[in-house]
Amino acid sequence: MVLTSVCFVAPRLLAEDKAARGKYLVEEVGRCQECHTPKLENGEFDKSKWMKGAVLNLQGITPIKDWHKTSPDLTPAGRLWSRWGEDGLRKYMQTGLTPKNTKAGPPMPTYTLSAADADAVVEYLKTIK
Ligand code: HEC
Repeated sequence: MVLTSVCFVAPRLLAEDKAARGKYLVEEVGRCQECHTPKLENGEFDKSKWMKGAVLNLQGITPIKDWHKTSPDLTPAGRLWSRWGEDGLRKYMQTGLTPKNTKAGPPMPTYTLSAADADAVVEYLKTIK
């Protein structure tokens, strides 16, 4: 009896653990929100648009080739998810390469996360409405 309930609960807990690890990686380590979440006039993040893409307020002192002034929506509702799919995102976070084998333009950093960490990041992004 106890065993059966463990079997049912474990996969869900695993996904929650992964999402928690992903949240840590995204918000505390990568600080993705700095570029992927718009800010309000008071300088605070617009929590209602968490990771939904933003116009950047940073730029190089001298012009940088291929510099992007905007960042895309990273939530499942965004175009990136429908274009790349979960696996495309996982691969991107591991290799820094898009499904077309290109790199993102600056200032997007190139990440080469482990498979487990890339999976955790995607699992967390999946939870954002
Ligand atoms: C310093 C700013 C910055 C930070 C920090 C940042 N990004 Fe980005 N990101 C960008 C910009 C700008 C683009 C658009 C680049 C492009 O279209 O080539 C982008 C694009 C992306 C893309 C799409 C890439 C493409 O080629 O279309 C993904 C996925 C992404 N970021 C995920 C993340 C994640 C996950 C994190 C945190 C772990 C993160 N980014 C942190 C600025 C940033």
